Amino acid sequence: MLSPTQSLRRLRKAPPGVMVIFGGGGDLTKRLLIPAIYNLDCADLLSDEFSVIVVDWAEMTSETLLAQFRESIDDFVSKRGSCAAKLKEENWDRITGNIQYIRGSFEEESTYTRLKEALGEQSAVFYLAVAARFFGPVVDLIGSTGLAQETENCSRRVIIEKPFGSDLNSAKELNARLLRSLGETQIYRIDHYLGKETVQNILALRFSNGFFEPLWNRDNIDHIQITAAETVGVERRGRFYESTGAIRDMVPNHLMQLLSMVAMEAPTSFDAEAVRNEKSKVLSAIQPVTRENAVRGQYVSGSFKNGDHAEALRGYRGEPDVSMGSETETYVAMKLRIDNWRWAGVPFYIRTGKRLRCRKTEIAIHFKQAPYALFRDTPVDKLTPNIMVLHIQPTEGVTMQFSAKVPGPSVRLGGVRMKFDYSDWFQEGPSTGYETLIYDCLIGDQTLFQRADSIEEGWRIVQPVLSQQSAEQPPLCFYAAGLDGPREADELLSRSRRKWLPLK
Ligand code: BG6
Repeated sequence: MLSPTQSLRRLRKAPPGVMVIFGGGGDLTKRLLIPAIYNLDCADLLSDEFSVIVVDWAEMTSETLLAQFRESIDDFVSKRGSCAAKLKEENWDRITGNIQYIRGSFEEESTYTRLKEALGEQSAVFYLAVAARFFGPVVDLIGSTGLAQETENCSRRVIIEKPFGSDLNSAKELNARLLRSLGETQIYRIDHYLGKETVQNILALRFSNGFFEPLWNRDNIDHIQITAAETVGVERRGRFYESTGAIRDMVPNHLMQLLSMVAMEAPTSFDAEAVRNEKSKVLSAIQPVTRENAVRGQYVSGSFKNGDHAEALRGYRGEPDVSMGSETETYVAMKLRIDNWRWAGVPFYIRTGKRLRCRKTEIAIHFKQAPYALFRDTPVDKLTPNIMVLHIQPTEGVTMQFSAKVPGPSVRLGGVRMKFDYSDWFQEGPSTGYETLIYDCLIGDQTLFQRADSIEEGWRIVQPVLSQQSAEQPPLCFYAAGLDGPREADELLSRSRRKWLPLK
């Protein structure tokens, strides 16, 4: 069995370069980016000449910043497990010995001229870990100060976090604005779902095995369910969430990525353009969602049951920084149609929400019922539907559900399950999910990053239900925190005699 670090070690080291993190004083950098860089160093994938420059406006010294990084890496190693049970001081010292802090405003040219001096002729990845309103201004200044200029020996790339726009028009405008300063090959639009091993595994599973693909179409599949359920509420992000909501936060990005992985045609190679062409093609075949095919929900107070104990949960409107009359959805379910030869007539149901009964992300492929003439004495509702579930998180693996004969003299059928668990076969990766993405950007591989057209397709699909001014926006329904989401989401499926897989 290969450990993830061993398999990563088969890769080559990334070329020398500097990672410049705008907003490096923020939460994302501490919790995920620095731990990911540390893990890459432990796997020996960073050049000896790799360094980090943190740009932030916060008034602090390099020492304060490093102390904060130390606190969160200790937390990361103790809670999530890293490349060792204990922090590898040698690797940590190497990383922190090469971190420089530049204090400055993201909107002032002088910050960029200082940065330019510090970078000289070195290659650089600019990571925009800043609020979305700064994406445009930062990239404009990277462009106008010449920081985007590449030469034969020096690459310049920009990683942009989500949210990428807040609707179709703003995403188009942002794409156009970025392209005024950068080439498409310099832009890395990140979606952290694509850093998840199990998401990448969807393509491996589909295209490296002979027996799934022949069944993967409208002749054999009845429908597909994609679920991303969370138990957390909005926590301290009330202000952000009020203007965002579950649709913008999860659907055009994470859920569309999952959907395109499961529905795309086989690319001609794993080359970035080949993969991204297929993803974009399948997204462009999806019809914009309509009012009757979407459900928006918001959680009201409820509770989590934990044995005999019940933990009371407040409703969304009682969360900090949320308005008492908020119309923001914390849950969404949609029925989508893909108009192409492979999927015509096969509904794709997607749902995501906060404060649900359990945390799980999965894709369930529901196959068509087999002809049951042979089992006419077995009541139809007792025939177990064939379902293949791709478990993305927190458990990682695949389950197949099918019927088998119950032992005994008569022919009776019972439902059984066959399960592949990642952790039984591969040593679990100590990963933030950002290692692969950062490494890929350092080596210039855009396969796992979103191209402009896919982002715009994602927004186009959800655009009708985004605005309260739109006649297509469905009314808000309510659901109790800690349960399964609104009843109306069940009706979305029961209209065609289907059911969501239970959340448990
Ligand atoms: C983020 C959203 O992009 O993804 C969060 O902004 C959400 O609201 C998170 O909780 C879910 O990510 P994961 O990896 O926990 O499924």
